[in-house]
Amino acid sequence: MPRLLVVHHTTSPALDELLQAVRRGAGDPELAAVEVRCRPALTATAVDVLQADGYLLGTPANLGYMSGALKHFFDTVYYPCLEATRGRPYGLYVHGNNDVDGALTAVHRIVTGLGWQQVAEPVRVIGSPTAADRAACQDLGGVLAASLI
Ligand SMILES: Cc1cc2nc3c(=O)[nH]c(=O)nc-3n(C[C@H](O)[C@H](O)[C@H](O)COP(=O)(O)O)c2cc1C
Repeated sequence: MPRLLVVHHTTSPALDELLQAVRRGAGDPELAAVEVRCRPALTATAVDVLQADGYLLGTPANLGYMSGALKHFFDTVYYPCLEATRGRPYGLYVHGNNDVDGALTAVHRIVTGLGWQQVAEPVRVIGSPTAADRAACQDLGGVLAASLI
């Protein structure tokens, strides 16, 4: 069974809303052929990454960059997973209070190094998540899961 790994840093209700929306999308009954595994970024391991077939990343924008937790995840898994995961699909959502561009650019640079393939536009959310933001995250989860079938 293909597996989607959701790696997230969730520090507030706003980020949790986005995470739950992603999980709803990826967990759609029509996508039951895909297993969804969810890991906080500070606990995700190289084994989690190697045992998955695609990746959905979620982070706040912090000081113009991704969260330290997601950066720690990449620091941990980058070289152990570099060869084995090349070409696998990934998606990304970023939440911030004013500007998420730095976080998006930083993640993009690292996943480009890993050779992961972006299969959906990143979801950018500023401020309190709206229904449209939640829907975009739900779609993101669905697209990532569907990409593994
Ligand atoms: C130390 C720190 C740095 C932050 N830097 C940014 C930033 O560069 N850009 C941005 O849009 N938001 C920034 N934020 C806001 C966070 O992204 C935001 O708090 C997080 O996504 C959670 O959302 P919430 O505060 O609405 O619950 C920062 C927050 C903190 C605590």
